[in-house]
Amino acid sequence: ARVSLWGGRFAGGPSQALAALSKSTHFDWRLAGQDIAGSRAHARVLHAAGLLDDAELSTMLEGLDRLAADVASGAFVAGADDEDVHTALERGLIERAGADVGGKLRAGRSRNDQIATLTRMYLRDEARVIVGLVLDVVDALVAQADAHPGAAMPGRTHLQHAQPVLLAHHLLAHAWPLLRDVERFVDWDARAARSPYGSGALAGSSLGLDPAAVAAELGFEGPVENSIDGTASRDVMAEFAFVAAMVGVDLSRLAEEVILWNTKEFGFVRLDDAFSTGSSIMPQKKNPDVAELARGKAGRLIGDLTGLLATLKGLPLAYNRDLQEDKEPVFDQVDTLEVLLPAFSGMVATMTFDTERMASLAPQGFSLATDVAEWLVREGVPFRVAHEVAGACVKVCEDRGIELWDLTDEDLAGISSHLTPDVRSVLSVEGSLASRDAVGGTAPVRVAEQLEAARARASEF
Ligand code: ARG
Repeated sequence: ARVSLWGGRFAGGPSQALAALSKSTHFDWRLAGQDIAGSRAHARVLHAAGLLDDAELSTMLEGLDRLAADVASGAFVAGADDEDVHTALERGLIERAGADVGGKLRAGRSRNDQIATLTRMYLRDEARVIVGLVLDVVDALVAQADAHPGAAMPGRTHLQHAQPVLLAHHLLAHAWPLLRDVERFVDWDARAARSPYGSGALAGSSLGLDPAAVAAELGFEGPVENSIDGTASRDVMAEFAFVAAMVGVDLSRLAEEVILWNTKEFGFVRLDDAFSTGSSIMPQKKNPDVAELARGKAGRLIGDLTGLLATLKGLPLAYNRDLQEDKEPVFDQVDTLEVLLPAFSGMVATMTFDTERMASLAPQGFSLATDVAEWLVREGVPFRVAHEVAGACVKVCEDRGIELWDLTDEDLAGISSHLTPDVRSVLSVEGSLASRDAVGGTAPVRVAEQLEAARARASEF
């Protein structure tokens, strides 16, 4: 039989077209577990308020248990006539506990406070899953850094050779933003841990129900302070969507480098066969599809965030049906990250670096020119002059098609009287790396400390 939650004041049922538009079970069904948990908690506060007697409470809880089992087994699913997950589950409860008892559960709650609560419960659970998967990527980066302690590579700005850096330093530069994303999810949870249940449609309940008891049973820190805010705001959801989009962006930045590094021209990494794909026509191809899908899905994750923000903009208080559009974007983010992250961490964990090639390219492109300038500064030359002198060295080398270390003593003296042959002591990648030994720098001692710090941070979550 058709169970509607609102038929009384209507002469007829909804048009087919409206029913099709209104329906949300194809995406909100994933909240069935949370809905039933909310119903159990709600049944208990109805009982505590004297609105259900002991027998009714146990009939209701038994009915909900059977419903939960049938949902889990697939024996109970949303029907064609069910508007949303709440409607479907009320029908399921009434079928199991009878209309007299089942029909009492709706007192003092609204789908408005229900949906706001259930999505928070769902996102809090999924945030924990996503955090674990992001930490797997961090672990893979830390392990790669650990496996290549002394390996040098060209550090770039503007994608041009800039200064030599350690490969480990570069890899950890991708780990820290991901660790901050994890921190963001953890910080976010403090705001998500407030339950809107008990806010009713918008104004709260007159039935003496205890929102704090429901909140505690559902794992929240407490109820929301304001029932209008509780049912109408979605900033907590938007904040989740931002962090999810940020994870996508941070993965995409690394993905772009993996794609470049994997080209013939760079030749820095080889991807494991298990994390590369072939071409249907070109037999030789081995493509970095995991990285490309990460880069592509970052766009989708950003779109989910911007779509949600656009939905929220300009909504008057309190609940508006526009808010039904809040779920698909974040559900899509959850699904996207949960399918992307395992492949991504696998790709990172199994890629192999051509460290010889990377090291040989590290000093190319006059990337030691800054070392010349800083050597001059240590000799007492003002940096303005030092910069000019080092730049003149580059110009001479470029004109003659040689490298900085090919300059003879006479060449050096001809460029500037400050340039004694001692300057050659800094014209090596090892010297350059070791000299950048302030906190956060690329010197091997500092990077070793940094690696331990990243490991320690990751283990805090
Ligand atoms: N399905 C709705 C949503 O996702 C909740 C139901 C509220 N409906 C209503 N007519 N007040 O937001």
